[in-house]
Amino acid sequence: MARPLITTTAIMEHVRKLEDEHPPIRLDSVDRTIVNAPVVRERFAPVIDYLARVELEVDRNVLELLTILPGVSEVDRYFYQDVWQPQEVAHGVILDRLQVDLGLPPSNVFLGIPMRMKFLGALAHLPAIQEISRLLYYLTGAATERQAVVAYSRFTDQLNELGEKAISQTIIGQIKRQEPGHFAFYQMSATQMIQDGVLAPWQLFVARVLREKGFALVGTNYEKQLEANLGGVLVGLEFDTELERYAKDVGRLEAKLLWANKNGMEFPPYFLEAMRQSVDLYRERGFNPAPA
Ligand SMILES: [Fe+2]
Ligand SMILES: [Fe+2]
Repeated sequence: MARPLITTTAIMEHVRKLEDEHPPIRLDSVDRTIVNAPVVRERFAPVIDYLARVELEVDRNVLELLTILPGVSEVDRYFYQDVWQPQEVAHGVILDRLQVDLGLPPSNVFLGIPMRMKFLGALAHLPAIQEISRLLYYLTGAATERQAVVAYSRFTDQLNELGEKAISQTIIGQIKRQEPGHFAFYQMSATQMIQDGVLAPWQLFVARVLREKGFALVGTNYEKQLEANLGGVLVGLEFDTELERYAKDVGRLEAKLLWANKNGMEFPPYFLEAMRQSVDLYRERGFNPAPA
């Protein structure tokens, strides 16, 4: 029953494997054939815009990370700097190219650091706070990468149905293969912290409060229009009719690690609330690729 403990050496090996097996995707490896641009544009403009922007915003994520985790460990640094960031930027570049090929505007990337991050950063020199931030960083990373895995899988299927084989295989298919390794890194790192009892009960309590009060889905940056745009992604990928399943898929790890499956919790309720709200906002406001 007992699972083997996760060690830093095992995480290090995982990252090395990602580096060896998944070099950043090259733009010239992409087949840019599009069968029916108007149809792809009509159905998937919000999806492609959102994915491209979030992938390109990784540079901001790195700045945020350095703000909240000034004493970053070697394994974390190796992952985000040498492996994760170059891979994600390449995802963003080929998706951005796809947008332009489809006649859509390129992504409107936001690279500032939100106030709340600066606040956490100001406290980050306190080791007890930094441990909380580190757990939240892993949990956020895991939820984000899991959303990417699920979204790219669904998108691949939909493109195949439309006969857009070049996009599905050489763009989305290539990206899709790199996301599970990112998820695994965050999953292993968060699990290691919990298994080793790094956080005292009060720190876990603070982590839960921060998550409950401050939860935001990937790329929404606490902005209503970006939340609506994410709703457009959920509708475009047809997750809006099965949000609970999606929330379970994305939030399962966090329920297990942070809430210890409290009362049989399958996913933290704030996941589903945030998803519902984004779909509602999309129905109210529609999609806008360049909010003020
Ligand atoms: Fe990615
Ligand atoms: Fe990723």
